[in-house]
Amino acid sequence: MSTWNGLIDSGYRRWLPVTPGTPSVSLNEGNTPLLRSAHLSALTGCEVWLKVEGANPTGSFKDRGMTVAISRAAQAGAELAVCASTGNTSASAAAYAARAGLTAAVLVPRGRVALAKLGQAVRYGARVVEIDGTFDDCLRVARELADHHPIALVNSVGNELRLAGQRTVAYEIVDALGDAPDIHCLPVGNGGNITATWGGYRVYQQEGLSTRSPRMWGFQAAGAAPLVHGAPVAEPETAASAIRIGSPATWDGALDARDRSGGLIAAVTDAQIFEAYELVARRDGVFAEPASAAGIAGLLDQHARGNLPPGQRIVITLSGNGLKDQDASLRGGYTATETSAATSDVAHALGLAA
Ligand code: F0G
Repeated sequence: MSTWNGLIDSGYRRWLPVTPGTPSVSLNEGNTPLLRSAHLSALTGCEVWLKVEGANPTGSFKDRGMTVAISRAAQAGAELAVCASTGNTSASAAAYAARAGLTAAVLVPRGRVALAKLGQAVRYGARVVEIDGTFDDCLRVARELADHHPIALVNSVGNELRLAGQRTVAYEIVDALGDAPDIHCLPVGNGGNITATWGGYRVYQQEGLSTRSPRMWGFQAAGAAPLVHGAPVAEPETAASAIRIGSPATWDGALDARDRSGGLIAAVTDAQIFEAYELVARRDGVFAEPASAAGIAGLLDQHARGNLPPGQRIVITLSGNGLKDQDASLRGGYTATETSAATSDVAHALGLAA
């Protein structure tokens, strides 16, 4: 039996910016499920696959880049790894730093991060700095700190290593499907992941490991859609807190992925996002956080607009785990039947014959 030992040791070392001397700081990230969605396939007349990135060790795709960034930071002898985050990057940085014996400092917008993500950073032992401002303010501060202090900045903007790691999602998809899909859908916040995923497909095509690259379809929340409007948004607003970003750092990379792939970056409303969030849980059994559902919401929106030819093979990145956002999961309340502990009462409540 072969065991999976993470992206550097088991998977994709030859495509990653590591040397034989780089230690592998890993939590066995990657190798995430690629599930066919019968429901979304039937709805769209296409073949739709879900790449379940919430199955990564800290519950999001961020682990793919963080294993590389923290491994290299450890090799370089860094002591403090710093990142700005809407939550997932901070959880991932904190976990990998803990594993490497480094300190992580995470800068987050106060009151705007899902509590479970904050809980992860706290439990992994990160120094948490809550900043009075948006994610964009946090990133500006992180970059300025890195300009003046000896820290390892582990945001993808200051750190190409992160994007190199995140490319591996495309390698896994091509390895599983035998070729690249026709369309790849994903949520877009800071722009790093669409850039990296596209970059991964390009590497595989250039190396002759696939015959084509997909059209990249990125989706932003309507209240935080600077790439759609073509201008930064000063006060980004969406309940999908992971992608509440007004000034994407990887702006050019995201537009380049869109344009060179013949793709698009469009907006979806929070209502569409939450509809997709509920749909994929109920129909596919996959619990993804709200931001993650933007890719599904966008696909269904393009289908409704008549922009989706039938018969396409489509992969959707579900970027983070639904467990990370309890405000979202219990939003609007829930229904449950209360009974005594008598079996007959429970049977009655379930409509089972006496
Ligand atoms: N989905 C989730 C669950 C995310 O956490 C993020 C970004 C994205 C999508 C968007 O990816 O920024 O590369 O375009 N989260 C960052 C963070 C900003 O700090 O965790 P992107």
